[in-house]
Amino acid sequence: MNQIRILFVCLGNICRSPAGQGALQKVIDDLGISNLFYIDSCGTAGYHIGSLPDPRTRKVAEQEGIKLTHQARKFQPSKDFAEFDFIFTMDDSNYKNIISLAWDDTQKEKVSMFRTFDPIQNDGLNVPDPYYGTINDFELVQEIVTRTSKGFINFLRDEGRIK
Ligand code: 4NP
Repeated sequence: MNQIRILFVCLGNICRSPAGQGALQKVIDDLGISNLFYIDSCGTAGYHIGSLPDPRTRKVAEQEGIKLTHQARKFQPSKDFAEFDFIFTMDDSNYKNIISLAWDDTQKEKVSMFRTFDPIQNDGLNVPDPYYGTINDFELVQEIVTRTSKGFINFLRDEGRIK
């Protein structure tokens, strides 16, 4: 059986993309369908390679029953474009970065803004970068990625990719 392979991408891979990875993992775990998926995350920058998610990211995830153990890594074009079906960017800047690294249309078609699947889009498609913000900004990220993960699962159902 082919798993659906999803890669979350942000800048540092310590705030938004590990939050997205954890939130989607929780949604599929709760639905009992985690065997259908492989989920990972990475950053466009390498500042934090090997680090656990930011303590504030881990704290708000933990409040939702999510333990984040991912270690930050940088996007690797040759490997990641081949390995993943969906490459979800968290903001416009990540999107432009990843698209600029693609060398064919098949790769470009895999890349989209994660919030395309957010049922509530009145503040745009970016997941706002919380790094220089307060705990409230991290809570907002958690709220957005949880809601959007559910939206993505509904999309896969509508497309007949999962039951
Ligand atoms: P992330 O947040 O891209 O959501 O992981 C950031 C993490 C680190 C930095 C910027 C954003 N930084 O400048 O180190």
